[in-house]
Parts: sequence; structure tokens; C-alpha cells
Amino acid sequence: MADEDFVVTPWEVRGKVDYEKLVEKFGTQRITSDLLQRWEKHAPLHPMLRRGVFYSHRDFDWALEMYEKGNRFYLYTGRGPSGHTHIGHMMPWMFTRHMQEVFKVKLYFQLTDDEKFVFNDSLTREQVREYAYENALDLIALGFEPHNTKIFLDTEYIHTLYPIAIEVAKRVTFSTAKAVFGFENSNNIGEIFYTSMQAVPAFLGSVREGKNVPCVIPCAIDQDPHFRVARDVAEQAGYYKPAMFYCKMLPSLSGGDKMSSSAPGSAIYTVDTQKEARKKIMNAFTGGCATVQEQREKGANPEVCAVFAYFFNIFEEDGARLAELDQQCRTGKILCGECKGRLAERVLAFLKTHQERREKAKDRLDEYMLRD
Ligand code: TRP
Repeated sequence: MADEDFVVTPWEVRGKVDYEKLVEKFGTQRITSDLLQRWEKHAPLHPMLRRGVFYSHRDFDWALEMYEKGNRFYLYTGRGPSGHTHIGHMMPWMFTRHMQEVFKVKLYFQLTDDEKFVFNDSLTREQVREYAYENALDLIALGFEPHNTKIFLDTEYIHTLYPIAIEVAKRVTFSTAKAVFGFENSNNIGEIFYTSMQAVPAFLGSVREGKNVPCVIPCAIDQDPHFRVARDVAEQAGYYKPAMFYCKMLPSLSGGDKMSSSAPGSAIYTVDTQKEARKKIMNAFTGGCATVQEQREKGANPEVCAVFAYFFNIFEEDGARLAELDQQCRTGKILCGECKGRLAERVLAFLKTHQERREKAKDRLDEYMLRD
């Protein structure tokens, strides 16, 4: 970490992320109140916009302008199927669903089974394929409909994707890949090529329509390095640069900045049982004091609390109720146990419905999948 106290790359998040600094480091734009006002002409502001969960972008103002002139964009986002889906993964997907509804646009969803195979020593091709289909169920369970949502695994749609991937690959030098991703001689060549695959869906809509269509990519800001590369080659390859719409990452339940698959207690997975989920929440890291008495006197700190973060990011949409909780927490009127209990109620109810929808999605997968 040398001279910095945090690291954010597509494969690693470490330390306490300073999201403002990240905007400068990556060179992205802030979602300003001006931009939000323009958004409000289309729909009331979603809590994730009001609260700055989605907070940064590249050229979204351009995409909106195109849209307003009748040139509709499409959405693209994705998932590297290295395991089951947790709630942090779904945060940008929930917002993507909202965007799809507001703007009445199409979504391409990429499952990068190739990525997780080449980047991970312990996953077999069969395992990443299975996880890809498990992850697809979670996307579908969020309410995406097949008429405007298409999902694909890189390895199953490669005949269509590959010609676009080589258009990208030809224009990215090894030295650029090294500079952007920090590759070394020991990296395998699949890893070095991979960013060309993640670029493809940014142009896929144009290829399938036979004319250039703007693309907007809602996702967590850790993916920006890939899309800097994609944007750099876009025009040379004959396409529009994709516009980006970035969110912060849902903090770990056990404290720290990103949920991690190596620490299962740090995240709620969509396949967790009610009991497992409740236990994780009851063990979560909070901003509380060591003793009840101390907390009643001094109050607690919602700013560092994982439980509050879950309410803030997803589980309390009502702004007045969130403000009240913040107040009760700071003044010691509510203790962490009670607050965790409230969150557990919300999360367990969400999981129950989600799991039912996920079951139903199993019969509908083929309506969504693109394969060659
Ligand atoms: N690289 C992403 C991951 O590891 C997967 C991904 C592919 C993605 N295309 C994307 C994520 C587009 C966001 C947007 O999870």
C-alpha cells in the first residue's frame, strides 16, 4: 500500500476506501446536483441517488442528452461467477433494474466464466459454469424480464463475442495492460487478454442492432480500470465510448470495506438460510460502545457501523425513518442489539421472497440466455 492507505482494483479492495479520492485517482466525474436535476425530469430520485450510493460517472450526461433526443441507450453490467451471489453484488443490479424501468431500455448481462477460470487457481471450468447459472437466477429474481434482458456466459456466446474482442485486443498493448492492471511476467496470458472480453458488451448492442447505440454501464467503481481501456479503444474500433454510472461498495458486515468470499461472515448470500443470515447480522460489526451504560450515555457512531450501512444502502428506503434511526443511534436511545434485530427482520423477509423468486427463475432461464 506504499504511500496510500487504501487499494481499489478489479480484484482487490483493501483498507478504508476514500471514495472522493478515488474519483480523482481514476479521473471519473462526480454525479452533481445538476445531473440529478436532469434525472428528475425522468423520474423521482431513487434513494441510492439521493444518498450518493451511486456517486460518480463518465459521460452519463452525454448518454442522457442522446436519450432525450430520441437516441435510446442500452444498459450493460455483469458478474464474475466465482461463487454464490451476495447482497453487495446485487446492489448495483437493483439500481440497474430501476434504471431499466425508468428509461425503458434493454440490459445485457455478462457472466464472465472465462475471467474467473483464468484468474482463479482453485476453480474448475465446471464450477464457474455452475456458479454462472446460480448467479443468473439472482439477477432474474430481481424482476428483470426476458423481453428486454439478455444474459450470457462468455464461453457459451463466444462465436458472437470473439470478433468484437479481437477488435479491442488489437488496440490494447501489453504495456497498457501492465500499466492499468499491474500485470507481471508470471501472469498467465488469459488474464492479460481478459479485459478485451469485458469490453465486448459495451459494443455488442451496436453490433446486434447494426448501428451505433449508446451504452450505459452501471456498476461498482472498482471496475473502472477495465472500462478506461474499453473507452480508449471504442472510437478507433468505430463505436461510441460507453458511459459509466458508478456506485460505492456495500461494506462488509464484519467491518472493513468490501464483502469478501474468503470471510463468509462478512456478507449475506442469497442462498443463506434464515438462521445463517440472522446469525451474521447479530454478529455484525457496529459503531456501538463496550457497555450498555456507556452507550446510553455517549451514544454510538452510525458512520462506522455495518448495520447502519445496510439500512442506508438498501434496507431503509424511507429518508425520514433513516434520519430518525441515525438520531436514535447517536443519542444512545437505541442499542445495537435492537437495531440488528430490526435489520434482521428486513433482510430475512427480503431473502424469503428472493429465494421463492429464485426457485421460479429456474424454469425460465432459457428465455434470457443468449448462446451461439
Ligand atoms: N469483472 C467483473 C467481476 O469480477 C464481472 C463483470 C463483467 C462486470 N462485465 C461487467 C461487472 C460489467 C460490472 C460491469 O465481477
